Amino acid sequence: MLGRLMKTLPGFRDFYPEEQARRRVLFDRWAAVARAHGFAEIDAPTVEPLELYRKKSGDELVGQLFSFTDRGEREIALRPELTPTVARMVAARHRELRRPVRWFSLGSFFRLERPQRGRTREFCQFNCDMFGVSGPGADAEMIALLIALLRAAGLGAEDFAVRVSDRAIWNDFGARAGLDEAGVAALLQAVDKLGREPAERTDARLREAGVNPAEARAFLEEPAEEEPAFAPLRAEIAQRGLGDFVVFDRSVVRGLAYYTGVVFEAFDRKGELRAIAGGGRYDGLLAKVSDGAADLPAAGFAIGDVVIMELIAGNARAAASLEAEAGRLLAGDVYLVIADETARARALELATSLRAAGVRTDFPLRPEKVGRQFQTAEQSGCRLAVVFGAEWPEVRIKVLATREEIVTSAEALRGRLEELLGARAGGR
Ligand code: HAM
Repeated sequence: MLGRLMKTLPGFRDFYPEEQARRRVLFDRWAAVARAHGFAEIDAPTVEPLELYRKKSGDELVGQLFSFTDRGEREIALRPELTPTVARMVAARHRELRRPVRWFSLGSFFRLERPQRGRTREFCQFNCDMFGVSGPGADAEMIALLIALLRAAGLGAEDFAVRVSDRAIWNDFGARAGLDEAGVAALLQAVDKLGREPAERTDARLREAGVNPAEARAFLEEPAEEEPAFAPLRAEIAQRGLGDFVVFDRSVVRGLAYYTGVVFEAFDRKGELRAIAGGGRYDGLLAKVSDGAADLPAAGFAIGDVVIMELIAGNARAAASLEAEAGRLLAGDVYLVIADETARARALELATSLRAAGVRTDFPLRPEKVGRQFQTAEQSGCRLAVVFGAEWPEVRIKVLATREEIVTSAEALRGRLEELLGARAGGR
């Protein structure tokens, strides 16, 4: 039985090097894809005034906040999402920012959810948001970016789909049913819970919202292909050749309060896991956070790290690609075997200069048997070992994978190493 202090809190995670290396590879691929789409990286605080979420995110999220009162009697929340923060950042500088504003970020978020498969209490999100443009072109751009990011994770159209809808269709449905704003909000909440709670519970919610459950269900079943509201976005997506990745689906509305138009969620095709990513258009949020000082259209999404890592782990091709790159991240390049302690100073000098050049170099920190040093060199995945012995200025380089031995001079050593590393690294 482990002591209490030897465990993380429920829903929190430690990441040991192998797993962190896989995450790093994925995050670096994502940053490259986002940059290729014209997005720039930002960062923001992990804590915010609780008020920011109370007003902007909706009740469901507020019920999941980790919060505390600081010494200045301020109510503080660990951020459960980035969107209100990013809206505040854009609103504060909206006059000087070049439009469209396109930002991405990676960071930790906190929600007091019941820890379960795909859901933790601290998780990472890769957020991408665009401000200053609306319309199907901008919505398609965000959906295309989401697809590109999931493909960069090694997943294809057979592994995931982006389910897309537009809150406008439910707003219209609500208007036809004579609902006011609060009624429409209640209707959206009920539709969001569809399939996730017992049908009687959803029907009760629909009735409370002022909607006849049978009518709502009939509307839901109408084929999405015939919905005129989806046609412009569908065309934009088809032009980008991404039709295979997208499914229009009236049941997607999203739980967060601020969405105003197109909404989307990415799911695994097998339907076994929770949502991989979610987002949509939120045109009113900037005006809300800035009390009307700034009013820009906005759309964005976030991919969580938990579900996608599970999906990758269950996909041989995606997992192998991530594993191979992560392995390269962890492996060393050169191990300096100090066979004769009188040569230690020379080895250290070379280590310093190789490391300065970015070559991953290691050596024993205290005298050790030569066999042991070779063992360490192999275990750490080094490609080359350089033996510093009594033969100096003659030096032996060992190519560890092939056991090939190259004898060279102290003078030529550095050049030979670079040659060998360059050739094998394939331009790392
Ligand atoms: P969200 O749907 O609440 O949207 O979260 C987006 C993604 O974050 C989810 O699809 C999921 O992968 C991950 N996620 C959320 N909660 C958890 C959890 N407890 N454990 C693990 N993963 C989780 C938002 O957060 C919006 N702010 C996204 C957005 C950005 N909308 C516009 N811009």
